[in-house]
Amino acid sequence: MKAQLSRRDWFKSSLALTAGLTISPLFVEKLFASPVSAAERYHWGLNPYSANGNIRLNANENPYGPSEKAKQAIIQNMKESNRYPFQAQAELRKMIADKEGVDTDHIHIGAGSGEILCEAGVAFGLNEGEILSGFPTFTEMMDYAQVFNGTWNKVNLNDQLEFDYEAMASRVNSKTKLVFVCNPNNPTGTLVDPSIVSPFCEEISKKALIYSDEAYLEFLEPDVQKKVTNIDLVKKGMNVVVSRTFSKIYGLAGLRIGYIVAKPDLIKKISQYQMGIPVSQHAIAAAKASLGDTDFMSMSRAKNSESRAHLEGYLKKKGFMHGKSHTNFMFFPAPKDGKTILSGMQKKNILMRIWDYKDREWCRVSIGTLDEMKQFTNAFDQVIA
Ligand SMILES: Cc1ncc(COP(=O)(O)O)c(C=O)c1O
Repeated sequence: MKAQLSRRDWFKSSLALTAGLTISPLFVEKLFASPVSAAERYHWGLNPYSANGNIRLNANENPYGPSEKAKQAIIQNMKESNRYPFQAQAELRKMIADKEGVDTDHIHIGAGSGEILCEAGVAFGLNEGEILSGFPTFTEMMDYAQVFNGTWNKVNLNDQLEFDYEAMASRVNSKTKLVFVCNPNNPTGTLVDPSIVSPFCEEISKKALIYSDEAYLEFLEPDVQKKVTNIDLVKKGMNVVVSRTFSKIYGLAGLRIGYIVAKPDLIKKISQYQMGIPVSQHAIAAAKASLGDTDFMSMSRAKNSESRAHLEGYLKKKGFMHGKSHTNFMFFPAPKDGKTILSGMQKKNILMRIWDYKDREWCRVSIGTLDEMKQFTNAFDQVIA
């Protein structure tokens, strides 16, 4: 029985059913154009997978989440399921504002930081607005902006697989509406020193909005986080947005909740494109319980470092070049063709990603538990033999 649909088929049919529309193949192609690689389109198109029973090293999730506090909060909050989340969301906004040291009018909460990336993609991409970013990076904003006729100006990474800020500065032009900064960057995991990033943001924010995606910030040690975040530029009233998520270190990816911090006029400009009331009571309850949970964050950070060291050791032993990861994933050139790697690893119940960049294929492997990483390196070694 062919019970499963490919992601693309599912997407087409569910969109068509819910919207009662004929979906133009071009629209679906556009949404799937990036960052899905040719190998992934081919392999997953033929071999749809079920998430169950697989080691999931394909979505940079936290294998230890949600925290006990978050789980308890969700259970306790079940009785509020009949209530709209207005009050709860106001409380969370206040908690986030206090944590970030700004007023509540500087905070906008969305169904994942990805939802807000899409809102910003519309706000700044409309009327052929140009978004400039390093490449490869997390593409959700640019993909969405392009659906609304925005344009994407991509600047290749440097040889260490880091954002090349000098090259990016030279590419800012009169059409550039927004510059997307991702530090540490997905899919490479690399971090650029704040002594380079901060002056870049200060200078360029005079010409275009700086959107600082800090989804993986909390994987850095707390003293480093303080230096890397661009929150101080927001507090100085600059044309800067800082984006954070509860999906990564907090382990709440399935609940969908994230936020941005920016001055009120930017919050208005972006949040006007939010659709309805997308954030649920349970996501808010879990986020409130997670915010101050430094024990859970420290545990996740420490375990992630230990598992990442295992993968790093393997890559070094094999002599595979890789970006220096500061996150819960690693990026390295595929030692064999991407389709063979995806299918070989799927047979061993391990999911991972293949990316296309600079005329070659790259592996992006999320960091799971130490046991999962040991299974990964064993299996990968056999698949590439
Ligand atoms: C850099 C970056 N930003 C944003 C997101 C979106 O995460 P979410 O929508 O779950 O908050 C991701 C997800 O992987 C990411 O890697």
